Amino acid sequence: MELRVIAIDGPAGSGKSTVARAVADALGLEYLDTGAMYRSVTFAALRSDVDPADTDAVGELAAGLEITVDNGVVTVDGVDATIEIRGPEVTRAVSTVAANPTVRTELVSRQREWARRRGGGVIEGRDIGSVVFPDALLKVYLTASEDARAGRRAKEVTDLDYETVAADLARRDALDQGRASSPLVEVGGAIAIDTTDREVDAIVAEVLRLVDAADSGAP
Ligand code: DC
Repeated sequence: MELRVIAIDGPAGSGKSTVARAVADALGLEYLDTGAMYRSVTFAALRSDVDPADTDAVGELAAGLEITVDNGVVTVDGVDATIEIRGPEVTRAVSTVAANPTVRTELVSRQREWARRRGGGVIEGRDIGSVVFPDALLKVYLTASEDARAGRRAKEVTDLDYETVAADLARRDALDQGRASSPLVEVGGAIAIDTTDREVDAIVAEVLRLVDAADSGAP
């Protein structure tokens, strides 16, 4: 069966989650935040005192971990991790865990399984259009200026100042784009949308038009 996948990739703070959630709602599809899965493995490593840089130990941990992402609520081996996976400790270590090839293989296979069970969905991440679903119905690559992205993240994490958030974002961008295993890339066939000075509604409307066009077989 052909899967109806809408892939939404882009760097942190580009608006992926907001746009992906709204597009999923409008289309009556389910939404998967794959970043939450990498964050969940990081959460589990920190919680069990496993060094996030210990490739073998973290890979082994990921293979046996039960992660559920449901309606914004994330559980890791039955523990509600919704708040903690967005906290500074997980955010600091997550790029290291996301660069681990064993972790990526495990989570990519779970993401494919998630979509297979549902016949598709709106899936956001860094490698969805490039690696996880290269045959997606539509691939969108969201971008925004560094300043706009840091400003959005600073609003979400009220306990850190703008400079700290901007520096962390730049560091994570470099790690996510520079890693050997499935780096963040703007893949051929993806449609880039700059969200810097645009209203969410207008971006969502644009993505929905692109879905319509893809459905009717437009290139
Ligand atoms: O989107 P986010 O900030 O929650 O993502 C957390 C980290 O996980 C980020 O450093 C990039 C990584 N990630 C990834 O490598 N591949 C994905 N499909 C999703 C996220």
